[in-house]
Amino acid sequence: MTIEYHDIKPWGRSFDEYVRMFSLTPADLKRKILGCGDGPASFNAELTGRGGNVISIDPVYRFSTDQIKQKIGETYDDIIRQTRENRDKFVWQEIGSIEELGRIRMSAMAKFLEDFPEGVMQKRYIPGELPLLPFDKKEFDLALCSHLLFLYTDNLSLEFHLRSLGELCRVSKEVRIFPLVDVNANRSPYVDRVIDILRMKKLDVTEVKVAYEFQKGGNMMLKIC
Ligand SMILES: C[S@@+](CC[C@H](N)C(=O)[O-])C[C@H]1O[C@@H](n2cnc3c(N)ncnc32)[C@H](O)[C@@H]1O
Repeated sequence: MTIEYHDIKPWGRSFDEYVRMFSLTPADLKRKILGCGDGPASFNAELTGRGGNVISIDPVYRFSTDQIKQKIGETYDDIIRQTRENRDKFVWQEIGSIEELGRIRMSAMAKFLEDFPEGVMQKRYIPGELPLLPFDKKEFDLALCSHLLFLYTDNLSLEFHLRSLGELCRVSKEVRIFPLVDVNANRSPYVDRVIDILRMKKLDVTEVKVAYEFQKGGNMMLKIC
């Protein structure tokens, strides 16, 4: 059984998961951060609550709070069903069961939904999408992209990945991408090609092991400086 997502799902993780996925240190959390493709994750809400400086960009922010809530509801059953059918592709340690997964994700997304109206007014949630971002050169210290690039290898071309990574490097001094596996927990065939091409452009690119693994083998991030 394989996982197939015909579109890119609005589905959100928590601040704690972002910290572990991207090995974020207390010093990192004081930097000016861009969350690209943050969708309904609670990272922005929670980091802002802790005094951080973060802007999230995602196409889903074009919609109202109620519309995003409805999309999450529509996504929920599909993700839970496909995760259940493919449970052997995940590590059931920190998250012990499908039911717990559903609760954790919905709790993170509830925090996002609560924060969204105020965040829009404060321009912390900006509608927009890769491969073109409405920001100035090196406007951010650190850009994070979780569960979009490499994960959706079946939906997004190599060319899209290269243009998107180039754009993230344009707007930020450092870029981190997690995970490096696709939806079926296979290492994305794009990773090695992207690393080669970025290194040819004299960028400093490293694969870093992180203290987070939910998809089996999905415990590496790409760091580009
Ligand atoms: C699986 S969710 C991940 C959300 C969040 N980053 C997390 O890890 O919890 C993927 C997100 O990517 C967003 N997305 C889809 N296409 C995008 C694009 N071209 N540029 C930026 N975000 C995009 C979707 O709207 C969705 O919110």
